[in-house]
Amino acid sequence: MLATSALALAYTLPAPHAACGAASMLASRSLSPICLSPAASYLDGVPQGAPDAILGLAADFRASTAPNKVNLVVGAYRGSDGKPWVLPSVKEAEGRLLERGEFKEYAPIDGNARFTERALRFAYGDSAALAEGRVAGVQTLSGTGACRLAGEFYSRFLPAGTAIYVSDPTWGNHIPIMERAGLEVRRYAYLDRSTNSLDFDGLISSINDAPSGSIFLLHACAHNPTGVDPSREQWRSVSDAILAKGHHVLMDCAYQGFASGDADADASAIRFFVDAGHSLLLAQSFAKNFGLYGERVGTLSAVCASSEQAAKVLSQLKLIIRPMYSSPPIHGALIVDEVLGDAALTAQYYDECKQMADRISAMRSLLVSELGAAGSSHDWSHITDQIGMFAFTGLTPSMCDELTAKHAIFLTKDGRISIAGINPGNAATIAAAIHDVTDGKDLGG
Ligand SMILES: Cc1ncc(COP(=O)(O)O)c(C=O)c1O
Repeated sequence: MLATSALALAYTLPAPHAACGAASMLASRSLSPICLSPAASYLDGVPQGAPDAILGLAADFRASTAPNKVNLVVGAYRGSDGKPWVLPSVKEAEGRLLERGEFKEYAPIDGNARFTERALRFAYGDSAALAEGRVAGVQTLSGTGACRLAGEFYSRFLPAGTAIYVSDPTWGNHIPIMERAGLEVRRYAYLDRSTNSLDFDGLISSINDAPSGSIFLLHACAHNPTGVDPSREQWRSVSDAILAKGHHVLMDCAYQGFASGDADADASAIRFFVDAGHSLLLAQSFAKNFGLYGERVGTLSAVCASSEQAAKVLSQLKLIIRPMYSSPPIHGALIVDEVLGDAALTAQYYDECKQMADRISAMRSLLVSELGAAGSSHDWSHITDQIGMFAFTGLTPSMCDELTAKHAIFLTKDGRISIAGINPGNAATIAAAIHDVTDGKDLGG
């Protein structure tokens, strides 16, 4: 892409070429190398960057010519036909926007205020914090942008050296996002790898052992990559332990509605933490639950002690945003605003979100039953116990490699699979392949 645009640029250069006197590219229209100014030689020192751990594997999948290749890498919903799904409620909202005529003016620095208000109500429910006007919220570039902004905010306003604790394991991007924001990243215990379930005691010990005033990044629901969420009781204990140590909480909510199919139930940890009076920032994404992946719609919000404090926090968030990207994109926010602003469309949306969650849950059961049918004697019950887009299978890195090399099934090396990539047409094939690479071997931890 970039090379193409460089050529296009060359066609507009005056002849002879200003930097080296070569004959005009315009005249010859040849594809020979462009002669750049010597100043551009610094580009010779730019090394090849490593591919992104997840998106690089997605590129490997696209490049594979295997006829029955299966993509279990990226967390994007697919229907039973294996295709992406634009929710009908989203299509309806887009149709209305088109009919009304959408101006393409800039959004304010903090985005579309009405969208943010509705988005926060979606997450916080009827919380006193919202009613009292003490939540400072801005529209962000989806969940990633919200996390990045949160990191910058912490970096500016918490004492230097404050560390952020992320779960072991966590969504891979959390670590560089927070490092780039200047925070020291440490891990808290989360997954018991011998059972692929929550290491609850380890989690509480990590909270107790961290220096007071640390930041804990928690996944609000449908933990990525493990699919393991604390129970209601466990959330209560986590909350108590964090309050007792005076830690800060960054709740990352990328899957509200995706976990149980009920967006309100999936927000219960957020609402509990808000009511418990935590020092809390919330990063919210509408990528998965509204299927608005590429629209980059999200929010970041801070629960404050008063509306005056919230106004100050908002002013600082805007100061961070302005030199970073000026203002967020408008289209996706208008879609969410349209859906959440119409009771009938909201009800339709809730139903469609539930359809996605139900299909994911059905595919968990189907995979486990197909593994049994394929002859696997391993206990795969963690796959059905886990929740959300992903299952943490327990496959070791070498089993993952074999699954890809021998069966063209693409997954991340930690054994995480995107359940959205499974459908009734490929479940048996996937199960047989998993059985092939795990038969007679211990599942990893
Ligand atoms: C836990 C978690 N947080 C944040 C994100 C960010 O998603 P997006 O930037 O697409 O909203 C993801 C995406 O996979 C995620 O899994």
